[in-house]
Amino acid sequence: MTAQAAQTGQPLLSVQNLNIQIKMDNGIMNAVDGVDFEIHKGKTLGLVGESGCGKSLTSRAIISINPKECETTGDIVYHSDSEASLNRLNLLSLHPNGKQIRSIRGRKIAMIFQEPMTAFSPMYTIGNQLMEAIRIHRTKNKKEAKKIALEMLAKVGISDQEKRFDQYPHEFSGGMRQRAMISMALSCNPEILIADEPTTALDVTIQAQVLELMKKLQSEFGMAILLVTHDLGIIAQMCDEVAVMYLGKIVEQAPVKEIFANAKHPYTKGLLKSMPRLGGDKTKRLDSIEGTVPIPINMPPMCGFYDRCSDRIEGVCNTNAVPKTRITDQHSVRCFLYSDRQEGAAQ
Ligand SMILES: Nc1ncnc2c1ncn2[C@@H]1O[C@H](COP(=O)(O)OP(=O)(O)O)[C@@H](O)[C@H]1O
Ligand code: SF4
Ligand SMILES: [Mg+2]
Repeated sequence: MTAQAAQTGQPLLSVQNLNIQIKMDNGIMNAVDGVDFEIHKGKTLGLVGESGCGKSLTSRAIISINPKECETTGDIVYHSDSEASLNRLNLLSLHPNGKQIRSIRGRKIAMIFQEPMTAFSPMYTIGNQLMEAIRIHRTKNKKEAKKIALEMLAKVGISDQEKRFDQYPHEFSGGMRQRAMISMALSCNPEILIADEPTTALDVTIQAQVLELMKKLQSEFGMAILLVTHDLGIIAQMCDEVAVMYLGKIVEQAPVKEIFANAKHPYTKGLLKSMPRLGGDKTKRLDSIEGTVPIPINMPPMCGFYDRCSDRIEGVCNTNAVPKTRITDQHSVRCFLYSDRQEGAAQ
């Protein structure tokens, strides 16, 4: 158990050495490479990084919904908070379409996406689809399922629920569809909610409302959230802890306050510099990190950020795999600038 787990009790979910490889025409892509993190009851862990860093593959691996070309290894250990039979279950050892993972997916671990249309079929009414999820996981009774569905629509701030219940997804606005997807995800009272860029497609006002709603529902239901985003502003607003991902690896991890006050990794510092500030000069161009995320195919052992890093040490950073260094019990970083603090824990 890590020092962090010891402080906050047993994690609900523990991801250990997660690797996802994809066979490409020109070699093997290590899209996710040795990822470790824990998700705790009632807490929000943010997974942040630019597009293409492996955030979605990581989060989708938890409920086994990646396409079959993704070869996934490691451990994803789920400790159910409520069912002894599900305690210490390695989700990666389950058949990806088997009965056991299907009873966990949606019911115990729910997921919401950037584009709610992926969660709804255009063929059925919102109410029908909500009821179906509730009847699979909670109650067979039609009347009771409808009551729960209407309550959930009200909880996510959709008014005139009886009318909305009978409408089709295309009759909802983008913000309302996102609310409806959240209501569907939460209708089964999951222990963990995975939210992959849940507000990226929404305008700023609706985005703020949806984030507030997620926070409110979290305090009401006590669920844990894994929040995937490329936006550090959202991390600051929503998360307790943050894992910064770059090129398939977690390069820095710490409590949110610590990341904002004391970031170590040059990539994290770059992300922070490119963050818009409240009340800042809107005419001033933001610093963004130069260069783009490379594609990790046949990468030699080296730091993936090397080409973009102004602190790189030639002959060190481009010739060795970067070990994980602990700055404190709760703060770790993968960067040679700090590796002299290493205490024989290289991975
Ligand atoms: N099915 C796939 N086949 C090939 N490459 C993929 C597939 N899914 C994702 N990738 C690649 O894996 C990397 C990580 O993808 P993803 O997890 O979607 O990143 P993020 O969510 O951080 O933007 C990207 O380079 C992406 O192009
Ligand atoms: S390991 Fe080297 S290249 Fe990579 S982020 Fe640290 S200083 Fe930069
Ligand atoms: Mg993504």
